[in-house]
Amino acid sequence: MESHMDFYAAKAALDWLIELGADEAICDAPVNRYEAVATLPKPAVLQAGAEPAPKAAAAGAPIAVPDVDWVAVAAQAAASAQDLDGLRAAMAAFEGCELKRGARNLVFADGNPKARVMVIGEAPGREEDLEGKPFVGQAGHMLDKMFAAIGLGRSLEDAASIYVTNVMPWRPPQNREPKPQEIAMMLPFLKRHVELVNPDVVVLMGNISCQAVLGEKGITRLRGAWTKAFDTPALPMFHPAYLVRSPEFKREAWHDLLMVQAKLRETE
Ligand code: URA
Repeated sequence: MESHMDFYAAKAALDWLIELGADEAICDAPVNRYEAVATLPKPAVLQAGAEPAPKAAAAGAPIAVPDVDWVAVAAQAAASAQDLDGLRAAMAAFEGCELKRGARNLVFADGNPKARVMVIGEAPGREEDLEGKPFVGQAGHMLDKMFAAIGLGRSLEDAASIYVTNVMPWRPPQNREPKPQEIAMMLPFLKRHVELVNPDVVVLMGNISCQAVLGEKGITRLRGAWTKAFDTPALPMFHPAYLVRSPEFKREAWHDLLMVQAKLRETE
């Protein structure tokens, strides 16, 4: 029993490392880098006879890391972005979100920035992380089919196009849900993203998008009714990944797509 547990725990740890990108063995035996650091020659300031090191740098003493208000940092960085390239650069330079360290790519957006419809998904999955583009896996194919049904697509020209992004630009490990503080620090970037694209309609795909933008979950209750996302008309819908798993809800998705189509015609 015990050895089974060890096996599964070790397998889970290995899977996790592979998810993070450590998918290659670079030497035959593992190296403990912490021990390697301990055997390095001491820097001059710590050698006998040298000036005593400042207290905080003494061996074992914790290094004081000032508290950073990452939501405020994000708000300032986002507000100073003048266009989408500037916003992408500001997000790429943002160091507050742990997810960035485990992700291969920043997943910014796809589609036509002049689109009338802006779709906001949750977070990149494996394929999106590898390609650096949102909605390219199975859920993405479903999303493309959904919008094609009302004559819209991300590679079409302006009036018939959609623009696609996510609440989180980095893939969470093991596709876990983003944490509230991770969402909070990326929200100023999302708000600026919507301001810069300035769509006629926002579609909020699934619970995480609704939680981030509307401050509430419960997609079954929220879907199919117009609301506002950053002052823009917004419609919550079932996430395409959910429709892949539960195709019986495609009828509701079709209803909501027709609502998007009607809104576009109304505001033409
Ligand atoms: N699911 C999402 O919400 N976004 C993606 O980009 C892919 C899957």
